Amino acid sequence: MADPIPAPVFRNRSLLDAAQGRVPARPPVWIMRQAGRYLADYRRVRALFPNFLDFCRSPEHVAEVTIQPVDQIGVDAAILFSDILVLLPPMGLQVEFQEKRGPVIANPLRDDAVIAALPEGDLNSELAYVFEGIRLTKRALGDRVPLIGFAGGPFTVASYMVEGGSSKELSKLKALLFSRPEVFAVLMRKLASVTSAYLREQARQGADVITIMDSWAGYLGPEEYRLHVLPHTRAVIQAVKAEFPNLPVVHYANGAPHLLPHFATLGADVLGLDWRADMAAALKAYPKQVFQGNLDPCALYGSPAQIAEKTRALKSLVGARPHVFNLGHGILPDIDPAHARAFVDAVHEAN
Ligand code: CP3
Repeated sequence: MADPIPAPVFRNRSLLDAAQGRVPARPPVWIMRQAGRYLADYRRVRALFPNFLDFCRSPEHVAEVTIQPVDQIGVDAAILFSDILVLLPPMGLQVEFQEKRGPVIANPLRDDAVIAALPEGDLNSELAYVFEGIRLTKRALGDRVPLIGFAGGPFTVASYMVEGGSSKELSKLKALLFSRPEVFAVLMRKLASVTSAYLREQARQGADVITIMDSWAGYLGPEEYRLHVLPHTRAVIQAVKAEFPNLPVVHYANGAPHLLPHFATLGADVLGLDWRADMAAALKAYPKQVFQGNLDPCALYGSPAQIAEKTRALKSLVGARPHVFNLGHGILPDIDPAHARAFVDAVHEAN
């Protein structure tokens, strides 16, 4: 099927070029959680909403904070302000974001019959606010930079649904995987189908790049990942590519260098690595793969000069290859925005 909207010609298409394997005139950089608490203007808008999900459900405010880091930090892409957990309410799980604890799910999945009864397929009518946010953001951004849409990987979203919130070991989810793999598979299959429909609609509404954030995939060993997760994440990527063959897909996982051989078979255009990964080794082992990352988010606690030095070291490691510069995980809330800018400027500076 042809893309319904003609591809816009961006003034800054460095991310699209790099993701498609071309060397851009200037290397692209964006920052995970770039629309976030380290920006005073984000905190001002955030303060209007006691409830984080109400903020995600306000398309005008979503568009406003999505564009803030493009204006203030100079990144080469906008990422839609939302969360991977917006899929939970349409699937029947109530989620609340608490100040100290993060996401808390009131009715986590503890019963196989509940998993069997979860909805699947297209739940997009309950996510109309996300698509309206994409349309408003695209209108306000114009052709300046591409817009990244995203969803969580099925495993990472399942972790919140089963654990009931953030978790140190993912022991409940992994207990399900090891003790009742067929029930785990049903959950993954349903999440993959909901996520596929959700991401396809994001692309129809104007997302120029899709990121799949399977942040916690690294909790699994290679065999479990290959058997129980990889087919489902690959199905999501294939569903997006079936409708949008040229839309770049980025896959991100945290703390998962041991899974790189499997990630390389997912069909993603870009693989996001965290700071623990040996980027030099990854570049050598996968000469044709485009990578994203992998500055330690804590490197931004250094002085602007120290940040520039670390960034230059990463640039020289990557050399002439297309690469997407980013942190290895989200920017921390107490980082000085001037330090985020120092990172972006160092990526952009001529060698
Ligand atoms: O700028 C952007 O990156 C876009 C917005 C975005 C958010 N969450 C906003 C958010 C994106 C891409 C995410 C993805 C996300 N959410 C992931 C995958 C990436 C990663 O970080 O590993 C995960 C695992 C979540 C789940 C989640 N959301 C947690 C665990 C928390 C609480 C921890 C925290 O950082 O507060 C959230 C809340 C959240 N999502 C915030 C933001 C800006 C902070 C809430 C606030 O502003 O009050």
